[in-house]
Amino acid sequence: MDHDVERILFNEAEIRSGTDRVAAEVTAAYAGRPFTVVSVLKGSCIFASDLIRRIPIPLELAFVSASSYGDGTQSGRLALNFFPAESEIAGRNLLLVDDILDTGKTLSRLVGEMHKRGAAEVRSCVFLDKPARRAVPFRADFRVFEVDDLFVVGYGLDFAGHYRNLPYVGALKRECYERPRSAAR
Ligand code: IMP
Ligand code: MG
Repeated sequence: MDHDVERILFNEAEIRSGTDRVAAEVTAAYAGRPFTVVSVLKGSCIFASDLIRRIPIPLELAFVSASSYGDGTQSGRLALNFFPAESEIAGRNLLLVDDILDTGKTLSRLVGEMHKRGAAEVRSCVFLDKPARRAVPFRADFRVFEVDDLFVVGYGLDFAGHYRNLPYVGALKRECYERPRSAAR
């Protein structure tokens, strides 16, 4: 897998200190207020699990699953696969946690869905933010790093289902995502 990475953007130490910084911001924002971290699967599983272990105040954890069916590096039609139970959303303060804020379609849709299901408050926290790619206006309340318009993998982020287990974030070599579909398996 390492051979497919053009360059490392954030190594493990940088990820750790960035996550510490944002965990402190989240802790300050929710001190004395009950809240639920809603990890957006699959991409945020690694970030969310590192983040919550650095937040030393009471919280609950829930999961939502969203996938966007595109051609690999472009997001396409959004499917919401599963939601937390109604009782885990209604009246709660939710912090949606996602791997990357790209076009903004996933998070803006999820914020709307959570409000529809009766959430008291919905905020968002992203590991990466690619502001250059925004298609719908959306600002995350918390974010660890901003990235340029590059396709990145690792630390939960995938290309065609792979590379999520890289412990760092890297830019994928062009030849890995531009090769003909038949050879991409
Ligand atoms: P959205 O375009 O903001 O809705 O982002 C949807 C999803 O696209 C993210 O949660 C990621 O799963 C995926 N995505 C966007 N940019 C990248 C990237 O550079 N690498 C890997 N996945 C990405
Ligand atoms: Mg993804």
